[in-house]
Amino acid sequence: MKKTAVVFGTTTGNTEKAAHLIAEAIGKDKVSVMNVSSFSAVDINGFEFLIFGTSTWGYGDIQGDWESLIPSLKKSDLSGKTVVLFGLGDSSSYNETFCDGMGILYEELQGTGASFTGFCETAGYNFSSSRAVVNGKFAGLPLDEDNEAGKTRERISAWVDSFSENLEMKA
Ligand SMILES: Cc1cc2nc3c(=O)[nH]c(=O)nc-3n(C[C@H](O)[C@H](O)[C@H](O)COP(=O)(O)O)c2cc1C
Repeated sequence: MKKTAVVFGTTTGNTEKAAHLIAEAIGKDKVSVMNVSSFSAVDINGFEFLIFGTSTWGYGDIQGDWESLIPSLKKSDLSGKTVVLFGLGDSSSYNETFCDGMGILYEELQGTGASFTGFCETAGYNFSSSRAVVNGKFAGLPLDEDNEAGKTRERISAWVDSFSENLEMKA
């Protein structure tokens, strides 16, 4: 199994909760879960598979704690590493900026050499626009604890299944 980290930025705890559910779905003992506020670009060296999560604040802004890491992250060489993203948002009150923070993270990491997986179909979500939609798919897993908390576990489980083969080491 590849060395895997789940790194989350959270303001009210929803992204943290999702990070732990993701770790549970993969296998708690196999994954390090860390808050982005105590994570630095150097820490990336210890991992091959990176799961990054952010909520969206303001009107389409990335969760604040990511902002200090992004400049150094952008300069990092992530070639050979796999990145998957998840985002927390509110598809009802913020249906025009739904999970934009996840889209910002995706945009900022272009050029690092990372290979992305874990894209999701937009079907099943009610929103009008999102910066996280890239070529017709979400650039990661959107979660909505404000309106669709009951779907979170099932969504995480299907999403983790979609990239679990990728977590294994190549023989
Ligand atoms: C003031 C405010 C602004 C928000 N802006 C957005 C937004 O633009 N887009 C979105 O999808 N969700 C938005 N949300 C919803 C949060 O992203 C959502 O509640 C999320 O679960 C919070 O996760 P956290 O506790 O991990 O920070 C906003 C919530 C608040 C209270």
